Amino acid sequence: MKAQREFDILIIGSGAAGLTLALKLAANASIAVLSKGDLTSGSTWLAQGGVAAVIDESDIEQNHAADTLTAGSFLSHSDAVNYTVENARESIDWLIEQGVPFSKENGQLHLTKEGGHSHRRIIHAADATGKAILQTLIEKAQAEPSISLIEHSVAIDLITTTKLGLSDNQCLGAYVLNSDTGVIDVFKARHTVLATGGASKAYLYTSNSDGASGDGIAMAWRSGCRVANMEFNQFHPTCLYHPQAKSFLVSEAVRGEGGKLKLPDGSAFMHKFDSRGELAPRDIVARAIDHEMKRLGADCLYLDISHRDDEFIKSHFPTIYQRCQQLGIDICNQPIPIVPAAHYTCGGVITDINGNTDIEGLYAIGETAFTGLHGANRLASNSLLECIVFATACATTIKKQLDTKFYYPVIPSWDESQVTDSDEDVIIAHNWEELRRFMWDYVGIVRTDKRLQRAKHRSDLLHKEIAEYYSNYKISKDLLELRNLALVSELIIQSAMLRKESRGLHFTLDYPQLGPQARDTILTPINYQWP
Ligand code: FAD
Ligand code: SIN
Repeated sequence: MKAQREFDILIIGSGAAGLTLALKLAANASIAVLSKGDLTSGSTWLAQGGVAAVIDESDIEQNHAADTLTAGSFLSHSDAVNYTVENARESIDWLIEQGVPFSKENGQLHLTKEGGHSHRRIIHAADATGKAILQTLIEKAQAEPSISLIEHSVAIDLITTTKLGLSDNQCLGAYVLNSDTGVIDVFKARHTVLATGGASKAYLYTSNSDGASGDGIAMAWRSGCRVANMEFNQFHPTCLYHPQAKSFLVSEAVRGEGGKLKLPDGSAFMHKFDSRGELAPRDIVARAIDHEMKRLGADCLYLDISHRDDEFIKSHFPTIYQRCQQLGIDICNQPIPIVPAAHYTCGGVITDINGNTDIEGLYAIGETAFTGLHGANRLASNSLLECIVFATACATTIKKQLDTKFYYPVIPSWDESQVTDSDEDVIIAHNWEELRRFMWDYVGIVRTDKRLQRAKHRSDLLHKEIAEYYSNYKISKDLLELRNLALVSELIIQSAMLRKESRGLHFTLDYPQLGPQARDTILTPINYQWP
């Protein structure tokens, strides 16, 4: 039976951003929080290193802002940067109030270091910070009667007045597939929030979980929202290289605590690329590793922390230690084989500082959003911070509007009368594989005009095939994710083609220099030329 469910607020995504927002509004509204998998299925659960904030007395907020701007290759928006660093301490205090068990030393928060940071300012829970945060927020949310946590529910598309043929563009909620039953319900809400995480699954090798398919970005685009800076996909320099270790990250904090990057012959090399060595920003380290791997024809390089004492390694990096141990790598005595992998989507749905998008009643927060904070490359540990800071700002904005009366137009149920069951699910798997491979090969760490044109050609073909498949067959979670990934990949390719310079994460051999002006790449759905 198809249902129409109504809430004051529909939050699509149960990561750090979505749950922070839900908790901040729990006293004022009825809230649905959707997750397309389990509540832990996004990137937050996997986060290792920590959350950046100025805590140490020798540090000041201006340093944090300056490091963010430098890492972002001076493309970050200074209002978003200042707002974030000024609200960082309060965000940490709120997380501590909720009960997040951050690591301490001598009764004080322990601060670690990561690439691009001039000071120790990473607050963490050993090397499983995201898990500690999310576990705490989930428990808090479960205790709130006004919050409905709804798992295995995949938002398909937003419902807007424009799509219903009415005037203005107001978001009214979303169509949602229950992936257990196959039923598609209408979720009505006066305020709908996209907190769906990033799109790094567009690449063959990624630190992200399978669900990082850019659903929020794709849904917002299809509804008329602009997106910005989609060409800046961050590659994390150090993911574990092992046939059985799909997507496992080796935290940058390992380098922050003295880990050295090495070639297969055991020699260090980062000093040849940047005076900051292992702690240069991620774009520089990932490019250096990529360069050395290609030069040597090596399958991987190595990260060595074995010079630190065993107790230190095991207590600071218990997750990494155990995972490597399971795979027969003793990190106390051996270097860790590593490769770069797609990690973070710096671009996204354009929002203001309060999470407002181009559509009335639609907001975006967390990795889905483009707030202007990250510029051309995100500074390590600024993402979890962004989730908390902007979810808080968004909650304040929504709270102010909760008393206004709102009347819904008639919303039709999802129509499946024209589609049949798919008889060729294998097409989805093949297209998914092809897409991720050409994105890795042609739109990866080092780009050229020719590679981007090749990617565009393949993307155009794929689009036609997926569109046809989508209009003929019943939808499934896999098909939805493929459709969204194909769209987001198109936006990445198109944005990369428009940037005729090398800046931050976008490095192209055809334009190796920084351009004269720092400009965002903004794409608008109206008038966009589809293949
Ligand atoms: P996520 O936590 O990714 O959550 C997305 C949610 O949206 C999930 O609940 C998912 O089920 C749901 N969803 C998606 N699509 C749909 C749909 N169509 N319908 C319904 N639900 C949907 N950042 C840091 O600052 N510090 C770190 O130490 C750090 N370490 C990291 C380590 C790893 C391995 C990874 C992958 C990332 C790391 N990051 C780190 C980045 C950071 O974790 C993420 O950017 C951040 O957690 C994103 O949070 P979010 O709430 O925006 O989305
Ligand atoms: C890490 O622990 O290296 C990830 C930190 C981040 O992505 O901010």
